[in-house]
Amino acid sequence: MKNRTRDNKKAWEQAYEHRNYDEETVLATLRDHPSDYLNDELRPALDAYIKPGSAVMQFCANNGRELLAICKHYAVSGHGFDLAENMIRSANEKAAALNLEASFQAVDILEIPESFHNQADVLVLTVGTTAWFEDIRAFFTKCRQVLRPGGILILQEIHPLTLMLAAESEDNYDPDRPFTLVNDYFAKKEWVSTSGMGYMSDLKQSYPFFDYSHTLADHVNAIIASGLTVRAFDESPVDYGDIFGANPPAGCPLAMLLIAGKPSGEND
Ligand SMILES: C[S@@+](CC[C@H](N)C(=O)[O-])C[C@H]1O[C@@H](n2cnc3c(N)ncnc32)[C@H](O)[C@@H]1O
Repeated sequence: MKNRTRDNKKAWEQAYEHRNYDEETVLATLRDHPSDYLNDELRPALDAYIKPGSAVMQFCANNGRELLAICKHYAVSGHGFDLAENMIRSANEKAAALNLEASFQAVDILEIPESFHNQADVLVLTVGTTAWFEDIRAFFTKCRQVLRPGGILILQEIHPLTLMLAAESEDNYDPDRPFTLVNDYFAKKEWVSTSGMGYMSDLKQSYPFFDYSHTLADHVNAIIASGLTVRAFDESPVDYGDIFGANPPAGCPLAMLLIAGKPSGEND
């Protein structure tokens, strides 16, 4: 595992340790209203590609709530991967409590063993996934490897255009003009943050998180280079990453949904 990945593991495990939500509530939602964890633009893609008996995988599955929601809602099996051991423990506990055919493994995505190759009918990636991988080509190569021939990748991500907007914690953030495009879209940059992970933890000072900017072309070219075939692409003004809180910029693409397939007859 690379040093940066080891640092991120420490930071994510700390964020989970200080989580600002209750896993019992997550469990109750999964039991009674699993589709609450599947947003309105992701759902039609899942409806279209998940079939009875499908094996579904998720990379960067966090505490497992999204994959468990898929397993419960569509009555399919699931396998999730994430760096953070404490999240994975909880995901496996919830799977057992819900009696679902789902299991989770703590591993760096880039080091998922070959025994998982050619296993997934559908691989789901949700917002907040690709930025953790400096080498986005290696990341999408692993996506291709875990898919069965004919398998489908469903990627919902934060739209790369949002890289151009300053976050409140950045020096160039202007509270009077928060939606001005101030950052260089093309800058190849490592971002470091020690201000916690607000969407899941109330810690204001944390171990450092390291992430990376990837343009839209970086995503599409890495997917094509991996050997996957792009089937559909869409953009959305909805702030699924909850970056902008109550006041998201109007008329901006804030999320994207891309569907790609692994050619039939191609094993790894
Ligand atoms: C923004 S979160 C999860 C996104 C998911 N949509 C969610 O909201 O639960 C990113 C996750 O990626 C995981 N992660 C980061 N780098 C990783 C890596 N190299 N291998 C596996 N998981 C990683 C973190 O532990 C974290 O749980």
